[in-house]
Amino acid sequence: MRFETKAIHAGQAPDPNSGDVMPPIHLSTTFAQEEPGKHKGYDYSRGGNPTRKNLEEALAALENAKYAHAFSSGLAATSAIAGLLKPGDHLLCIDDTYGGTFRLFERVLRPYGLDFSYVDMSDASKLKLQKNTKMIWLETPTNPLLKIADIAAIAGRKEKALLVVDNTFASPYLQNPLDLGADIVMHSTTKYLNGHSDVIGGCAMLNDEKIHEHLTFYQLAVGGVPSPFDCWLANRSLKTLAVRMKAHCENGQAVAGFLSEHKKVSKVYYPGLPDHPGHEIAKRQMRGFSGMLSFEVKGDFRKFLKALKILTLAESLGGIESLINHPAIMTHASLPSAERARRGISDSLLRLSVGIENIQDLIEDLDQALAKA
Ligand SMILES: Cc1ncc(COP(=O)(O)O)c(C=O)c1O
Repeated sequence: MRFETKAIHAGQAPDPNSGDVMPPIHLSTTFAQEEPGKHKGYDYSRGGNPTRKNLEEALAALENAKYAHAFSSGLAATSAIAGLLKPGDHLLCIDDTYGGTFRLFERVLRPYGLDFSYVDMSDASKLKLQKNTKMIWLETPTNPLLKIADIAAIAGRKEKALLVVDNTFASPYLQNPLDLGADIVMHSTTKYLNGHSDVIGGCAMLNDEKIHEHLTFYQLAVGGVPSPFDCWLANRSLKTLAVRMKAHCENGQAVAGFLSEHKKVSKVYYPGLPDHPGHEIAKRQMRGFSGMLSFEVKGDFRKFLKALKILTLAESLGGIESLINHPAIMTHASLPSAERARRGISDSLLRLSVGIENIQDLIEDLDQALAKA
């Protein structure tokens, strides 16, 4: 099956008892057993639930993976994956990660004896692993500077380390890291996968049996699993991922083009622009450039933000509605200011999640607000 068909049918066979064409929501926390230990595959919903299984089968299909595991947030998925590491292990991370990932690594996991370092991975040939590097953590495109890393080239240099790719900004519609040599792909399903800004969720997809066992155990033993209702909503949203992503890409490219020509904008970060340093790699490994971009406003960014009428000032991204965010004060405030400066996240940087509204309305809104900056 091709992407659009998998998104609608994988894990969604009509219910054998009732014939439901759309999978029902199984809210039950527990399941009847015929005799102790003999049941239909489910005993307690933390360990497994039919609605979660529907979602996991669809997610696995979309990333061309054998297994998928759903979590209660992207960060819950990240911590379950990092649970593969032992004290003394080192994780080599791309230097422009989501601020919450950095906070989890530095403030939660480092005190448990894990070591982390952060490097620019835009040139894979410069990648240097330590003896104890057990995991490489990649985001591409990155949040918020839209840097691009060459997944296949990094996979070729990972030695014995596991390569994890946070594919949140691209979505599986545009990029499949497992096909390029990654070991694990993760998403904040809160973003494009759910796509309607009404579910917090995360997931990890992979092919290795041992990692699958680890994550199955983590779901049961740690318990950061999504509710059946959240699974159902995310599953329902996946069915329109392809049409949504096409519209996000089209609008993203148009907004990036408009901003890059505007006299009140000094810089635009969008991998779909030919002068973006990662454009050629992005063209090779992605099937489109997504709806995420960042830019620097010349003038008063607060006046610009206040003047916007359609775009909403809010955290998060990947929803059908356009959102704008000030990383230094909002999504990346958990980074110390020296770390933000080192990464190039300036105080005038704005990140835009271009939604699927009418493109002319979006451009007119940006134009009238820039005039007030
Ligand atoms: C790229 C990326 N990865 C992971 C996360 C964390 O996901 P969640 O907010 O669902 O925990 C985010 C959240 O913004 C993100 O942007």
